[in-house]
Amino acid sequence: MKLFFIDQSGNLGGAELCLADIAQSFETPVLIGLLQDGPFRERLESLQVPVQVLTKQALQVRKESGLAAGLKSLQQLIPLIQKAARTAADYDAIYANTPKALVVGALASALSRRPLVYHLHDIIAPEHFSKTNRQLLIFLANRFARLVIANSNASKAAFIEAGGQADKVEVVYNGFDLDAYPVAVALEEPRAALRQELGLSNRFVVGHFSRLAPWKGQHILLEALTHLPEDVVALFVGDALFGEDAYVEALHQQVKDQGLSDRIRFLGFQSDIPRLMAACDLVAHTSTAPEPFGRVIVEAMLCARPVIAAAAGGAVELVEPGQTGWLCPPGDADKLAALILSCRDQPEFTQAVAQRADQTARQRFNLTETNQQIRSHLQALLER
Ligand code: UDP
Ligand code: GLC
Repeated sequence: MKLFFIDQSGNLGGAELCLADIAQSFETPVLIGLLQDGPFRERLESLQVPVQVLTKQALQVRKESGLAAGLKSLQQLIPLIQKAARTAADYDAIYANTPKALVVGALASALSRRPLVYHLHDIIAPEHFSKTNRQLLIFLANRFARLVIANSNASKAAFIEAGGQADKVEVVYNGFDLDAYPVAVALEEPRAALRQELGLSNRFVVGHFSRLAPWKGQHILLEALTHLPEDVVALFVGDALFGEDAYVEALHQQVKDQGLSDRIRFLGFQSDIPRLMAACDLVAHTSTAPEPFGRVIVEAMLCARPVIAAAAGGAVELVEPGQTGWLCPPGDADKLAALILSCRDQPEFTQAVAQRADQTARQRFNLTETNQQIRSHLQALLER
């Protein structure tokens, strides 16, 4: 099975990390075509996954853009689509991993007569996409994709609700390399060292692991801290990946205005997530719009860290409240503070929940199994 993957981003977002895991599992020739250069290309090269940047100039159109911006980008799109179509001729199928990759992949699939698969990592709903973009994505998926792989039931439901054809969709959760998540005991020593290094040894550390973007809701955790005792502090891991500079500035201003400076650490983008999660007493996920899947929630579970997730989208499928974590209404800083406090005040119960989450996540999100599911869906498609 020779696959030509297309992804719009040069950055290391969740969809890209998921694609790196999938592409690595195919021994036969694959190629990942990127619509932008960046650290994702470097990561793929270091993993020895063949990668090619298909265009020198990043596409200007954004999720919330209207028709005018879309039409403006056409000039750039035509040569890109032609190049993708020529490349696709050497492969059995085109696998579009992101919305802009769907635009390029759909037309390249028509030109090259190669079947198109769309891996849907998004919730196609007004909270995330303009009306024009929702209509365009649904049209392209319905007209050109032979298979849509949705990263959660929530993403599948939103796709259908927006007009997408239900019979094309298969749900496959993200999988994780379980060996990359050592059992909690193995992390005890680095945990103590890292907490000391960060000056957080005797604090209750709430970790937030996400790119800095308004809908990821870092401001909600900052707000929750103002309702919590001084010994509760927060560690933010992640950077702005898609030009959210104004939000980053607003977060720093919020820290200043609310007098939180000595209770906050911003670490920027980091690669060793398990080691950093192990240093935390709890992981908070605070997205204010429905999260399509939420890799960080599963990663926290695999590190046996208690996790509080925002109750919307795919997150609801990952966490069973009181059993494998906790769910908080999105945007509700008071409730988040209350949940953090109750976790801090009941350490044994909280740790038991985190241990159960670890075991459950190891069964539900095993990379070998999810890759196998993707492979069988692709096989069925190519045999049809
Ligand atoms: N991540 C990372 N370094 C960081 C922050 C995040 O490697 O500094 C990873 C995180 O471990 C997760 C992914 O980025 O695997 C984010 O995926 P998620 O599904 O949570 O959200 P997305 O950003 O894709 O919407
Ligand atoms: C996207 C979504 C995120 C999901 C990831 C992997 O980046 O925003 O929720 O976990 O894709 O499917």
